[in-house]
Amino acid sequence: MQIDIITLFPELLTSPFEASILKRAILANKVKVYFHNLRDYARDKQKNVDDYPFGGGAGMVLKIEPIDNCLNHLKKSKVYDEVIYLTPDGEQLNQKISNSFSTKQNLVIICGHYKGVDQRVRDHLITKEISIGDFVLSGGEIAAAVLCDSIIRLIPGVLGNESSALTDSYQDDLLAPPVYTRPSDYNGWEVPKILTSGNTPKIDEWRESMAIEKTKKLRPNLLKS
Ligand code: ADE
Repeated sequence: MQIDIITLFPELLTSPFEASILKRAILANKVKVYFHNLRDYARDKQKNVDDYPFGGGAGMVLKIEPIDNCLNHLKKSKVYDEVIYLTPDGEQLNQKISNSFSTKQNLVIICGHYKGVDQRVRDHLITKEISIGDFVLSGGEIAAAVLCDSIIRLIPGVLGNESSALTDSYQDDLLAPPVYTRPSDYNGWEVPKILTSGNTPKIDEWRESMAIEKTKKLRPNLLKS
């Protein structure tokens, strides 16, 4: 998979890819991630990437030309499955959407900033609008890191234990069951006996019933779906 990220602030975005699972995925060639600074695609002398909104009002708007220039440049060497724009008014990200993106070959992610992008970018240049939740961030960069992390961990072979992404919360509309590690007794707080019994079928049964119980208690809406 290749992910091309268009941003005004690549420095806000690079460190999540330099540690842990995302770093390993890149080193193992499971995914290539490239950052494209929008300013490099501004053609005027001042390298303007934003301007005042028509009709007045607070805040700056990202111009369409640099974004279109950058997309045209990328599209010269790749066909993209999706061009994703990150915005608080997009479709809310969930595990199903991440699963679907993780099966794609080439993705472009556009990070908004300031008041967002000229509406014509949204109308003509992108294929998906994604929000990571009902709150407003200063820009799409941190949202892009969240989106990429959720996608990349699902690419086959990225996680050491193939099944571990399948047992994540939300993967089957259930929250993940509780997990414990050594010591089995800490200050008198004991690990459920079943987990140290060595009886794998019983442990699986326990985990499933705990997952259902936890989901009923914390996120009953997931069970309804
Ligand atoms: N940009 C600003 N806020 C955002 C959000 N909640 N999700 C995605 N992109 C954003």
